[in-house]
Amino acid sequence: MREFIYYSRTAPTSGKYVNEDNPYESGRLDIPIHSVIASFFLSQKIRTDVRLHLIFAGMPDPQKHLELQPVLEGKTDIHKIYLNKKNIAGILKKMLYKYKEGEKTEVFPGFWIEKKGFLEFVKELQKQGRDIYILDPKGIDIRTADIKKNPVFILGDHRGLPLKELKRLKTLCTPITIGPNTYFASHTIAIVHNELDRRQSAGEL
Ligand SMILES: C[S@@+](CC[C@H](N)C(=O)[O-])C[C@H]1O[C@@H](n2cnc3c(N)ncnc32)[C@H](O)[C@@H]1O
Repeated sequence: MREFIYYSRTAPTSGKYVNEDNPYESGRLDIPIHSVIASFFLSQKIRTDVRLHLIFAGMPDPQKHLELQPVLEGKTDIHKIYLNKKNIAGILKKMLYKYKEGEKTEVFPGFWIEKKGFLEFVKELQKQGRDIYILDPKGIDIRTADIKKNPVFILGDHRGLPLKELKRLKTLCTPITIGPNTYFASHTIAIVHNELDRRQSAGEL
């Protein structure tokens, strides 16, 4: 299992603040939408070995943790959901609407929402003994980095990760770079997938 955590300081924390026709103006919701596509979609196939965590810290009720791991087995409708590239804004909006105070709620099979802060969530994973990597241009080159099984990767939003959080995370996680340019979060996910796919097919992971 590969996991990605995308943190957005502006993405909305209520369905009311999501305009499906203009995700860019909805707290840059276009970035998590592209990150969902990069996380799960291959040509003609959906990846089943990925979990994506979106931490939204925008208005009006930060922070929300949206967890996505689409269920592809079983009957349609309530039993499973097929992700469709065209309806991701709608899915995120519905997840935000279905949030219930004090609960972790499964909105669609494999799609959960709860109230949880970014650092709190990363610390929980660390306590579980997970190997966590921050995607950071100043990190170790991904081509030579030692990446353990079931890795977790953290990505920042259009402004990067907030400095205070970044400082703290660098004590808990290994910084990794994917190359000399600054890439979109979704490009970064695709490049990490590619590196892990190559290692897996070479039997190195
Ligand atoms: C659009 S970038 C953020 C740009 C922001 N202006 C900055 O300087 O951090 C979004 C995220 O993609 C990841 N990223 C982009 N380029 C990267 C690189 N060369 N190596 C590792 N991660 C990268 C980082 O996690 C970054 O926070």
